[in-house]
Amino acid sequence: MAEQQGKTIKPWGGVFTEATDELFEKFSESVSFDSRMYKQDIDGSIAHARMLSDVGILTKDEFEAIARELAAIKETIARGEMTFTSKLEDVHMHVEKALVDKLGDVGRKLHTARSRNDQVSTDFRLWIREAIDRLDALLLGVQKAFVARCDDDFDVVVPAYTHTQRAQPVLAPHVWLAYVEKLERDRERLADCRKRCNTLSLGAAACAGTSLPIDRNKTAEYLGFERIAANSVDVSSDRDFAVEFAFDMAQIAIHLSGWAEDWIWQSTVEFNFLKLPQAYCTGSSIMPQKVNPDVLELIRGKSARVVGNLQTLLVLTKGIPLAYDRDLQEDKEPIFDSFDTVSICLALAAPVVAGMRLNRQSIASRLEEGYLDATSFMEYLIRLGVPQRTAHGVVGRLVRKGIDSGRPLAQFSLEEFKAESPLVDENVYKFLGAVNAVNAMKSYGSTAPEQVRFQIDSWKKKLGL
Ligand code: ARG
Repeated sequence: MAEQQGKTIKPWGGVFTEATDELFEKFSESVSFDSRMYKQDIDGSIAHARMLSDVGILTKDEFEAIARELAAIKETIARGEMTFTSKLEDVHMHVEKALVDKLGDVGRKLHTARSRNDQVSTDFRLWIREAIDRLDALLLGVQKAFVARCDDDFDVVVPAYTHTQRAQPVLAPHVWLAYVEKLERDRERLADCRKRCNTLSLGAAACAGTSLPIDRNKTAEYLGFERIAANSVDVSSDRDFAVEFAFDMAQIAIHLSGWAEDWIWQSTVEFNFLKLPQAYCTGSSIMPQKVNPDVLELIRGKSARVVGNLQTLLVLTKGIPLAYDRDLQEDKEPIFDSFDTVSICLALAAPVVAGMRLNRQSIASRLEEGYLDATSFMEYLIRLGVPQRTAHGVVGRLVRKGIDSGRPLAQFSLEEFKAESPLVDENVYKFLGAVNAVNAMKSYGSTAPEQVRFQIDSWKKKLGL
């Protein structure tokens, strides 16, 4: 790179008569973060060069020299031996400069029919495609951890809550599978986002395409892209795939945060439902008795930055005029940060789920508090022909009596029931109590033991357990 009055001349510098300001150089560089995409950048360049030789723009020898040197540059960067400088702006210019240093004019041909605009979009798509596959594997790991404990926990009945008030009894695995369903939707969303990531940008060049006889089908094939962007102006400006990915990661973080919240309060002395594995907890320097659920608090807390990153991308892309604008360089850090954050949260969630111990006795000892069987009782009356609204009133009055006399419904005499509704017979006791209420369930997707068994078996098959 030629120097002029101590300042670097850029590869784009032909028209310039003044050197770049140094503060601006530091301000505008992206190599400090986009070097993370060096593998994708080099893979994209090798595919581009191969295509250029297919169509006769490069000779076979030129392509082979370029491919060989790019592979060597990849190794150099992997070994940490590449010196990055803000004078060379971004990863693309570093790789190209290293190639030109080795190959001279042959290296100078690589950027034929290409702009950094379609190049950076390609690199980012390739990077996100891989990131999606890694997140999918991590999500699967958490799903497996939940499903793997379903058999052991099958006989545990826990309260389900609405408004954080005791609502109805459910099997513990029914709750585990609720999280599995959420994570499955996260995986589906990622798979859907992957489709739109999997579009070739290269060939759009700066924004209008190229007059050179390129073959975009070949480039797509070499990089494993499923389709080719049909509009060069659109694809130069398109960051929908990144925004979507940011949303998908935010949704994962929100799901994890909700789960973390549940288990934080369920691990308190007040609830005493579960014990977290100590390897993921910390103590207090002043209160010797403390075992704090820090891993869950941090999973809950870190969701904030992941949600913030989505906001950053939405605001970044709002009102950007067609086509490429340098603002778009700001798209990478939020995505990298969300990916790193969500990855480590998922990697920690799996062993926390596997290592959690249910305090079965403590759960069972308070299961008849809170009239979890009230709906079961009401549905028994409905089956006897009592209109729902009437049955609701009957059960409500009996629950009131229970609260006043400090008794669960199962401890009422048949006479007391009959006094409220003459249709009640001794069968009523088969539907009272939390366990009976669970066993009385029938509907598809309910906590009926046979339904839960069916779902556990389906998930085991689906997840390969
Ligand atoms: N570093 C830039 C980015 O991340 C690469 C594209 C630069 N294109 C340009 N026309 N200056 O967006």
